[in-house]
Amino acid sequence: MPKSDVLVIGSGLAGLTFSIKFAEKFPDKKVTIITKADESESNTKYAQGGIAVVLDELSDSFQQHINDTIKAGSGLGDPKVIETVVKEGPDRLKEIISWGAQFDETPDGDFDLGLEGGHSAKRIVHHKDITGFEMESTLLNKIKSLPNLQLLSHHFAIDLITEHQVSERVHKYEEGKQLNCYGAYVLNQKTDSIETFKAKFTVMASGGIGQVYRTTTNPLIATGDGIAMAYRAKAKLRDMEFVQFHPTALYKQEENPSFLISEAVRGFGAQLKNRSGERFMFKYDDRGELASRDIVAKAIDREMKRLGDECVFLDCTHLDNDKFKEHFPNILNKCIDIGIDPFKEYIPVAPAAHYVCGGINVDLNGRTNINNLYACGECSRTGLHGANRLASNSLLEAIVYAHRCFEDISSKVDLVKINKNLPAWNADLTVPPEELVLITCSMNELKTLMSDYVGIVRSEERLKRALRRLKVMYEETNALYKQLIISTQLCELRNMIDVCYTIVKSSEKRTINVGGYYNIDLEETLQD
Ligand code: FAD
Ligand code: SIN
Repeated sequence: MPKSDVLVIGSGLAGLTFSIKFAEKFPDKKVTIITKADESESNTKYAQGGIAVVLDELSDSFQQHINDTIKAGSGLGDPKVIETVVKEGPDRLKEIISWGAQFDETPDGDFDLGLEGGHSAKRIVHHKDITGFEMESTLLNKIKSLPNLQLLSHHFAIDLITEHQVSERVHKYEEGKQLNCYGAYVLNQKTDSIETFKAKFTVMASGGIGQVYRTTTNPLIATGDGIAMAYRAKAKLRDMEFVQFHPTALYKQEENPSFLISEAVRGFGAQLKNRSGERFMFKYDDRGELASRDIVAKAIDREMKRLGDECVFLDCTHLDNDKFKEHFPNILNKCIDIGIDPFKEYIPVAPAAHYVCGGINVDLNGRTNINNLYACGECSRTGLHGANRLASNSLLEAIVYAHRCFEDISSKVDLVKINKNLPAWNADLTVPPEELVLITCSMNELKTLMSDYVGIVRSEERLKRALRRLKVMYEETNALYKQLIISTQLCELRNMIDVCYTIVKSSEKRTINVGGYYNIDLEETLQD
């Protein structure tokens, strides 16, 4: 049974940043990162626009970034958290730079800052249009120098281990008792065996949920596993109804994930037009294409429904070709690959599920309500985003909270002991699956259900229908889970159903439309 001081679930920006810091500070302690696919596969790898950080005190200020974050989140963000993240951002970014990450500079040697929706100043630090790839590669390279840090790819976390698993076998778990986390059950996808990973502390850094929708910018790994595991372990979740839809994913049927056309392209001057060539955004907000993401996504949705169209268009034809090539080489290549020349024709775009603003509720140090279980990055709900995340605040949140988890765990690591008496996974009486189609069909059904009933626009009836169908899917999948030998697909389906259930249940509780949440049956709208 593998043992470590800290078990980290996920090798994106949050998990890697935490692990590097901890392994560097405690060379005599062991950090194990498990990750369910290849080591680099993550939402982080695909981040394009960049990371929002106040670096130029002449043209920008912490207060402006704080105000923009509060406004984008329609005032539902936590002011203390927002201030902390904004103010700690520059130091955290400097650390990543000291590990080797490179960001674009002007000829004068200053950072070449980009502009995105909802920002009142240029403050997006970026590496061309592949910022996430640059950060992920830098961190993966850095971990090679840390012998006490082990990264195990193709290791899928199935469930967290708490009193629920331990006590079931020893004595009955008392409802309401403070829970502790002792590690996780993990499926080694290479050997198909399930191992018990014991740890003093577990850091959930498992990323987002985009794959529960039919159209998403998130890669296939984003099935909300960590949020579902935490939910089953009785960790508190919050704000799950606030799913952010990115306004401009490349419209191409059957592509999963959808390729993102970064908001930075709009920051660079691209205009949104409908099929008649009308520039429509100013009808909806006087910031036009650079209104915050919830507003632009809703406006596009309305425009598409009004005209019965499946996409709108991004007009880049008037932009400086050479500068565009320099800033957005990846986006340009993708367009050319699919036969679109953005300098001569419009790029078809449509909104796609992009980011979950809610997640596992954590305090300012990344602690959940379960002892020794921490969460950081997209799977966590810190209070930074409120009802809608400000563009490029996610990479920022990941590095700030990875650091805060690191500080808190560092101060306690010698006070906690590994629980040596954990039961091994029990696979008695399970049989190999005979019909994988049961899993794949349910997954497709789930995505369609979420996109049709729990998307950008919701209603009471749609939510009720979604819940009824989810309950059936839950029963069916749970039955499979009890009968079959565990597979990644089955676990992912189970997790996705749990995540969808929490999105629908949180949606039902919302009584007012705000930020990224819109229900046609709610009349009031909280203005941002
Ligand atoms: P991730 O980077 O998603 O990492 C999660 C890790 O957990 C992965 O390694 C995954 O394999 C692993 N994992 C998941 N489940 C399990 C399991 N059961 N067992 C083991 N391992 C598991 N944000 C910005 O701020 N700026 C941007 O420019 C930006 N652009 C974006 C562009 C795209 C296309 C996308 C999809 C997102 C973008 N975002 C951006 C959002 C941002 O990239 C993510 O929110 C952020 O990178 C999340 O980092 P993370 O470390 O929390 O999760
Ligand atoms: C983008 O580049 O548009 C994505 C930025 C983000 O999700 O913050």
